[in-house]
Amino acid sequence: MKTTSRTGQFTRAFRDDFQMLMRLRRDVRHFRTDPVDPDLFATCLDSFSLAPSVGLSQPWQIVDVKSDKARAAVQANFETANAQALSGYTGDTAKLYAGLKLAGLREAPIHLAVFCDEASEKGKGLGAGTMPEMRRYSVVCAIMQFWLTLRTHGLGLGWVSILDAARLNDDLDIPKDWALVGYLCIGWPQTQTLDPELEQLGWEERLPCPLPEIR
Ligand SMILES: Cc1cc2nc3c(=O)[nH]c(=O)nc-3n(C[C@H](O)[C@H](O)[C@H](O)COP(=O)(O)O)c2cc1C
Repeated sequence: MKTTSRTGQFTRAFRDDFQMLMRLRRDVRHFRTDPVDPDLFATCLDSFSLAPSVGLSQPWQIVDVKSDKARAAVQANFETANAQALSGYTGDTAKLYAGLKLAGLREAPIHLAVFCDEASEKGKGLGAGTMPEMRRYSVVCAIMQFWLTLRTHGLGLGWVSILDAARLNDDLDIPKDWALVGYLCIGWPQTQTLDPELEQLGWEERLPCPLPEIR
């Protein structure tokens, strides 16, 4: 079915599908272990090049974390950080936290560490001169597009941030100007749901967008 015209007008059917894509995108922590076709994965990665970025700086650097040694270092990093995070909670909240599955590091066939190159001269400093953090936000924008693209192919992504970023950079021998933005586990999800897992498990509630304040 045709979804767009040459003038970039999107159809109602496309809008409905896009809405459903956003509803079905999930942060995935339960993966099947079967592999992902490399050509399919390369197609998904192309979405990075379509993302907006401050000054067209495209500051993302993507590391495919493949070796057993590197993955073991990330797993150990997560376990330490997660134990530390757990110790910050008490009572029922601690009990609930301890039961959450907060990463799919062991099962996910693909691990990507996505960095922001803070020293990149691409974009000639436009916008990033006044607000350097915009480089990192650009990387977040790109990850978001990638996330949705993966989902259109049935693939899932889980974003892992319970990590010591400095230790990860050391362990993976990452250049010092690269700041970790997202450690991403990718693979085929075990299930498909319309609601966040953290909501289903009673950790937090998803709210509608608040109305903008007028000033
Ligand atoms: C920047 C970012 C970091 C995240 N880090 C983690 C994480 O460390 N562990 C985890 O279980 N989920 C993490 N998540 C996933 C959120 O918990 C999830 O997006 C939220 O619960 C809503 O669920 P949904 O993405 O399925 O809609 C992260 C999400 C974002 C956007």
